[in-house]
This record gives sequence, C-alpha cells and structure tokens, in this order.
Amino acid sequence: MKITVVGTGYVGLVSGVCFAEFGFDVTCVDKDQDKVSCLRNGEPTIFEPGLKKLMLKNMQAGRLVFTDDIAEAVKHTDVIFIAVGTPSQPDGSANLSYVFQAVEEIIPTVNQDAILVIKSTVPVGATRSVKEFLRQHGVELEVAFNPEFLKEGAAVEDFMHPDRIILGIESKRVKKILTALYRPLYVFNIPIQFTSLETAELSKYASNAFLAMKITFINEIANLCEVCGADVNDVALAMGLDKRIGDKFLQAGPGYGGSCFPKDTKALKSLAEKIGVSMPLVSETIRSNELRRSKMVEKILSACGNSVKDKNISVLGVTFKANTDDMRDSPSVEIVQALMEAGAVMRIYDPSFSEQAKQIFPTLRLDESVYSCCDNADAIVILTDWSEFRALNLHELRNKVRNPVIIDLRNIYTVSEVESAGFRYYSVGRKIRNN
Ligand code: UGA
Repeated sequence: MKITVVGTGYVGLVSGVCFAEFGFDVTCVDKDQDKVSCLRNGEPTIFEPGLKKLMLKNMQAGRLVFTDDIAEAVKHTDVIFIAVGTPSQPDGSANLSYVFQAVEEIIPTVNQDAILVIKSTVPVGATRSVKEFLRQHGVELEVAFNPEFLKEGAAVEDFMHPDRIILGIESKRVKKILTALYRPLYVFNIPIQFTSLETAELSKYASNAFLAMKITFINEIANLCEVCGADVNDVALAMGLDKRIGDKFLQAGPGYGGSCFPKDTKALKSLAEKIGVSMPLVSETIRSNELRRSKMVEKILSACGNSVKDKNISVLGVTFKANTDDMRDSPSVEIVQALMEAGAVMRIYDPSFSEQAKQIFPTLRLDESVYSCCDNADAIVILTDWSEFRALNLHELRNKVRNPVIIDLRNIYTVSEVESAGFRYYSVGRKIRNN
C-alpha cells in the first residue's frame, strides 16, 4: 500500500515515519523546501526522541521519501493523510485554510481511487465539508477522519502503542483499507473504534479538553492545598488509585501549554458557541489555566520577598514540557517576561537548547548547563520537568547561588531533601512557607 502524508509537523512526520516502519511505502510532502531538504539529509525537523533513528532506517530501506511536489505525490497513492496545522484564529476557532489549501492542491492529479484521511484536528463537520469541496471540483474521493493522540516527547511510542485507533468512516471499502493500514498494531490488541465522521472529530476535541480540565482541576486543588496544609502530590496519588479517576494527568504545575490543549479547548468552546450550546466547564478551564500563569509569577515574587528587581533569577526549563524543544504557548513565556518587566536579571537553561526559545527571548543568553545558569542566583525556578533536573547535586548548587531559594513549579523534589541541602523551598500545592 502506498501512503502520502501531507504536512511534516509532529503528527505528519511521526505518522509517516511510523507507517514506513510498519512496511508501507510512504511519501511525506511539505511545501517548505528547506524542511524537505533537511529531511532528505536525514535530519528530522522536529525534536523528538527516537525519531531520527527510525527515519534513517526507513529511508535507507527505500520505504520513506520526502518531496515538495504534492501533485506528483498523490498520483499513484492509495491513502492520503492530511496532517497540516489548524492554528487558532483570533476568535478561538480553528483555522482550516491549510487543510483546504492542501486538498485543493491534490485535486488536479489525485488518484481517483485513493482515500483521503484527515488527521489534522478539525471541528465537527470539517471532513464532510472537505468531501463536498472535492465534489464541487469534480473529484469523488472517499474521505475519513482519523484523529491522532500522540504526545510530543513520546510521539513514536504513542504512535506504535496507542490506547486506541478512532476511524470516522462512511463506507465498507474505507473500513477495509484503513483496517489493513493499522493491521500491524493487531498484535498489541489495540482497540479500533469505527464511528461517523462527526463522532471521530468530536472525540479528539473531547479527549484533549477533558485532559486539560483534569490538569486544571488538580491545579485548583493545589491552590487549596497551599492554604489548608495538604500535599497535592499525595492527594493526586490518592485520587489516581481510584480506577474510575486514573492517575494520569494529575500532576500539578504551572498550567498546561503546548500547541494542542490551549488551541483545542478554545476551538471546542468556539464550536459550541457557534451552534448555541453552553459549555461552562470548558470556558472555565481556559480561564483558570490563563490565570495560573500570573499566579505562578506571584508565587515567585513572594518567594523573593515581593520584589525581583535587580535579582538574579535562574530558570531551569522553558519548553512547555520535557523532551521537546517546543515553546508554543509555554507557560515560561509569560512568566519570564513578567519577571523581566519586574526588573529581574534572568538566566535560562533548557536541555533542548531550543532555537524557538532563543527567538522568543532574544535578549537572554541560554546557559550551557544547570550549574552555570545558577551561578550567583538569588532564586532558581524549575519550570519544566526535564529528567536531568530530578537529581541535581543540591549541595553543589547551594555553593553556587547567592541566595538559597528554589521555586519548583513541577514538584519534582520533596520538601525535606531540598531543605536539608540548605535551600528555602517553594513548590505548588504544598503548605506555603512564611519566609
Ligand atoms: C496533547 C495530548 O496529550 C495528546 O494526546 C494529543 O495527541 C496532543 O495534545 C495533540 O492534540 O496533538 P501534548 O500537547 O504533546 O499532547 O503534551 P501533553 O503531554 O499532553 O502536555 C500538555 C501540557 O499539559 C503540558 O504543558 C504539560 O506540562 C501539561 N501537563 C500534563 C500538566 O501540567 N500536568 C500533567 O499531569 C500532564
């Protein structure tokens, strides 16, 4: 089976590489010639553990090629995946222009027996609109919607061992072909759920909004813990042991970020408003998560005696989560900017040495290591839970800093281990220190 994947972002590139790993012939298409030449040279254009090795292996096996020629790529293909971005518009709704642009570009040359599968996250009704758009242009392709649930930083593993495959389809033929496509996952007993196009589209938004809500809920419980003296890590553990609740996505922190949860919660809200359905839980999740960032700034200020003016603040981790270089909607952006505006002298260290971070903070130098970053610090702020921050030599760090203050917004340490190294320790969802 020949597959074409349009768009080489996180979803497109990872899907293309993994389908090639299953043994299919895959062509990945991107308009951006620089990206394509980078990919042809065996360099992934995204930071994703394990991807490069798999990509090179499949390129060498001749199963994976990259091109910017979409017209040629869709001539003799069996399945076309559209995996381009659907960014937020100013009103929160999803911008579908890249999806329709890609669909328009396949029209002149597409194999009329191919199946067009939308993998981009799109609002309910969009896949059907694509089908109608094709029909208006004289092309009667069968369409499907196949949401992707991979997480950045664990994308290959998530693709290879998903919890489920959701396929929004409308015909037996499409069911047969897409079942064959995911047949390699059969050995892991991965459930495949066939639904209507609309149900599949909504399943993706509902899943992301629910996870965003779960994180927001535990962050609100963290606020409560700080006042009443409970420990949010232990509350989360207690809750998570109930199988009905589950222990995932109950890690309190600086609020969710990234390219998906903020965008998709807003798109779901916008969709509901458009069709006259009230979704106060989703609206409140968005609002509460936005407030979370200023609350984190207040926490840092308070730990620094209510002023950071001329103080050296060292930030460990600026990407929106660990194992990525992605800065999109990262809580660090607002937090670092607010601290700079309050007069702090900022230093940053991030293990990804993110190029995006360099562009976002052009006046800041990214340090080479945790220890150089913390030299002479008045406060250390842990903003992203990279593994290498979990076992720092706290005694060595204590000797580097000017003032022994750690503000751990990911709760990766216990109070006693940090305090016993001589630091004043501030975290989230644990009783607030008075000094
Ligand atoms: C998310 C979903 O988890 C994926 O299933 C989905 O496919 C993807 O969006 C998408 O729609 O493409 P991702 O944004 O890569 O994946 O990252 P997550 O691991 O979900 O983290 C999102 C944010 O929530 C991060 O800022 C993270 O730090 C935060 N988070 C996550 C918490 O604050 N606490 C948690 O317990 C978990």
